[in-house]
Amino acid sequence: MNRIFSGVQPTGNLHLGNYLGAIRNWVSLQRDYECLFCVVDLHAITVWQDPAQLRASTREVAAAMIASGIDASKHIVFNQSQVSGHAELAWIFNCVARLGWLDRMTQFKEKAGKDKERASVGLYAYPNLMAADILLYKGTHVPVGEDQKQHLELTRDIAQKFNNDFGVEVFPIPQPLILGAATRVMSLRDGTRKMSKSEPSDMTRINMTDGPDDIAKKVRKATSDPDLLPGPDALDAGAVPEAARQARPEAYNLLGIYAALADKPMAAVLEEFAGAQFSHFKAVLTDLAVAALGPIGQEMTRLAADPGTVDAVLREGAERARAVAAPILDEVYDVVGFLRP
Ligand code: TRP
Repeated sequence: MNRIFSGVQPTGNLHLGNYLGAIRNWVSLQRDYECLFCVVDLHAITVWQDPAQLRASTREVAAAMIASGIDASKHIVFNQSQVSGHAELAWIFNCVARLGWLDRMTQFKEKAGKDKERASVGLYAYPNLMAADILLYKGTHVPVGEDQKQHLELTRDIAQKFNNDFGVEVFPIPQPLILGAATRVMSLRDGTRKMSKSEPSDMTRINMTDGPDDIAKKVRKATSDPDLLPGPDALDAGAVPEAARQARPEAYNLLGIYAALADKPMAAVLEEFAGAQFSHFKAVLTDLAVAALGPIGQEMTRLAADPGTVDAVLREGAERARAVAAPILDEVYDVVGFLRP
């Protein structure tokens, strides 16, 4: 049986980048896999989190998943800290993973910055907790973006070393699941920067809860360039060549957003808009974005006013997650040599 585990950090102000880059992809996995979708609040506190904000963001991310079409009655949606097995297995993995392995993690170096003496120990051990997330359920497949590939590699190394050290076949070696061409959604104002919730101007991003007027205004004011839109001959083997993207980052960002929302290949989109004016394209893009995000945003707003519903989904999800994890953690504790009651 194939089982997917995926985690998402509880960040507030979810935007189109979060939707197209992660959440939407998960919706399509539900048909072929048994899925666990987890809001990773334990990971979040590896850097400082305001407690009230953390609670709100955890609910917001869960609401976004539900509103986007993740079926929490068929699959498991929960927040990590409600299942103590994540922290328990992470401790064991702290004792399996080697310092040398973690020293190579590029994300720690980026996040810790120059002053790594001041980074939390949790930030350093973060990838071990991620390995525990996946292996606590014997997850076989993990949808990952570019930034998490190295962490999944480490998860595979941990699973392998645990199995070798104890001479067992307890853990599967989880596979990365690369979902089509990743949609990197860039800022609406600067096509060379990622769309981000920490960008000061709200005009740089489309939030998942933006209404039609905001979406229309942001798309209309999005940076463009003076040329007409390119045709399909701009592509190389169906993809946008790096040089073309660098020459017209804003144009290809908007076209990429359109392709993702319309679920069409880039070639078809360029065919459709070859030689068109930005003003025409932007009007069509606005309609599409409003149609795609409108119902999701409305449902998120409704759920935000009714936190009891989201809390109940998370509570029930955690209960089912614990039931899956319990026999696996028992097996691991037994293999390690811990006396069990
Ligand atoms: N580290 C992931 C991120 O920042 C989130 C995450 C935590 C995760 N545990 C996971 C992703 C397990 C996949 C599987 O995006």
